[in-house]
Amino acid sequence: MSERMTTTEREIEAAGGSVGVKVERRGAVAIWTIDRADRRNALSRAVVRELGRLSRAARADRTLRAIVITGAGEQAFCAGADLKERQGMNEEEVRDFLSLYRVSFRDLDELPIPTIAALNGVAFGGGLELALACDFRVAARHVELGLTETSLGIIPGAGGTQRLVRAIGAAKAKELIVFARRLPALEAERLGIVNRVAKEGQSALEAALELADPLLGAAPIAIAAAMEAVDRASDLALEDGLSFERACYERTLVSQDRLEALAAFAAKRKPVFRGE
Ligand code: COA
Repeated sequence: MSERMTTTEREIEAAGGSVGVKVERRGAVAIWTIDRADRRNALSRAVVRELGRLSRAARADRTLRAIVITGAGEQAFCAGADLKERQGMNEEEVRDFLSLYRVSFRDLDELPIPTIAALNGVAFGGGLELALACDFRVAARHVELGLTETSLGIIPGAGGTQRLVRAIGAAKAKELIVFARRLPALEAERLGIVNRVAKEGQSALEAALELADPLLGAAPIAIAAAMEAVDRASDLALEDGLSFERACYERTLVSQDRLEALAAFAAKRKPVFRGE
């Protein structure tokens, strides 16, 4: 899969400029904001590459307890692939772009740190596919979302046909994809695409940080093992899945955090988990 950089991306990096994702840190939570409001935070090559790079770098950060991905402004979380950039691409370049999507979203999806997509505005096409590569999704009340690609003569190419089926089942996923439906947030929540809709007057980012809050004091090895076991469930036959669960449990069994939880329970105090 190609990871080649375009000349423009190299120029932006050489100039020390942004490649479209703003990164900030609030304690143990990282916030990655796609920062292209004038294009409704559409996914350019540079943004997709940067999301992959950030994901790989986050793996090594032992102080991170959650990552929130959101978009700049209130209109869009992400309007999908950058259709203006796409217009100048030949078929081979589009194929390369799809490969880049695959690598970046896989690296995001496989992160052992919980990721939360905070849908501050619409999430269409690649925007929803990005959100589906996260562990959880939280949406502002006014948001609409959907895999709208068939209305553009293509299909979801960043994992949507596979990840949406795993999230909500084939029958409903097929309907949403084939009819390119744009769903309001509350319906998406009922279907299980979105974990939570923000309260009236609450932003998606606030709702995401509220969701992340209990993770700050949680046991990171247990969280990572639980997410991995759940993620593999739909790919494995039951007996294989049970073996996989057992292997994941083993990582927690030999952890200091497990002993700390038992000691804290006996002493009637809150455990202090160190991820060891
Ligand atoms: N790629 C590149 N630019 C995009 C974009 C995309 N996916 N989506 C929006 N933009 C640009 C528009 O071209 C416009 O630019 P302009 O000011 O130079 O004309 C600007 O963002 C604002 O878009 P506009 O449609 O005027 O804003 P809106 O708030 O009324 O609507 C959307 C926003 C996202 C609902 C609408 O733009 C839309 O439906 N976009 C396509 C979404 C889609 O189907 N994505 C799937 C891609 S596979």
